[in-house]
Amino acid sequence: MAVSGLIMIGYLLLHMYGNLKVFAGKEAFDEYAHHLRTFGEPMLPYEGLLWIVRVVLLAAIIVHVYAVVVLWRRNRKAGAVRGARRYYSKKNRTGIQRSYASFTMRWGGLVVLAFIVYHLLHLTTNDIAPGGASDSPYERVVNGFEIWYVVVAYTIAMLAVGFHLWHGIWSALTTLGQNRSSNRIDSRLTGLAVVVTLVITLGFLMPPWAIFLGLEA
Ligand code: HEM
Repeated sequence: MAVSGLIMIGYLLLHMYGNLKVFAGKEAFDEYAHHLRTFGEPMLPYEGLLWIVRVVLLAAIIVHVYAVVVLWRRNRKAGAVRGARRYYSKKNRTGIQRSYASFTMRWGGLVVLAFIVYHLLHLTTNDIAPGGASDSPYERVVNGFEIWYVVVAYTIAMLAVGFHLWHGIWSALTTLGQNRSSNRIDSRLTGLAVVVTLVITLGFLMPPWAIFLGLEA
């Protein structure tokens, strides 16, 4: 779960950064989208890199969901009572990671999964085209984010992504042996998780809100 999660976080950082190209205008954004498809040519075929990324992401999602099932079963077998004293330590009465984020990992994960399906139909295939379909990736983005309910839907989804990452980053690094503290306050990982989460969530929220408020290039 940790490794597949970190692979997806790597993708999110790159994707968020790439989306900020929208502030450079239509030509720059469309050129960037085109470049993603021709990258590595002629060593790779057209869309070669994109397909490598797609296969890696799909594998990461499958592994991640499989890990959910395995851990869920293991947790139930261990006799866990629903919600009881999870992430609790005697040293820290409020508990380590006893937060809204950690208690919503399963439902939040499902919201993120539903968002990914909607998002692909919207901005990749353009089968769902709020504000009008277009061959231009820039226009797809701008047409969509001029509509208030699309911005609200994306904002809710980005908050779900943010909560998932906040606990997920902490948890992944803990699984991989980086957590040296049983105390929530002392744990540097909490700070790191919050910073990475804020960078990704706020970075993703910038294009929709800037477009909606008419502040883009
Ligand atoms: C407001 C935030 C976001 C914006 C504006 C945005 C924008 C886009 C755009 C324009 C594309 C199409 C790129 C192209 O075909 O050239 C795309 C594809 C994609 N996005 Fe996002 N995205 C956002 C958030 C997210 C999030 C949070 C995730 C994951 C949880 C995500 C996952 C993906 C995936 C998997 C693809 C498909 C890549 C492919 O296989 O072609 N996006 N996004």
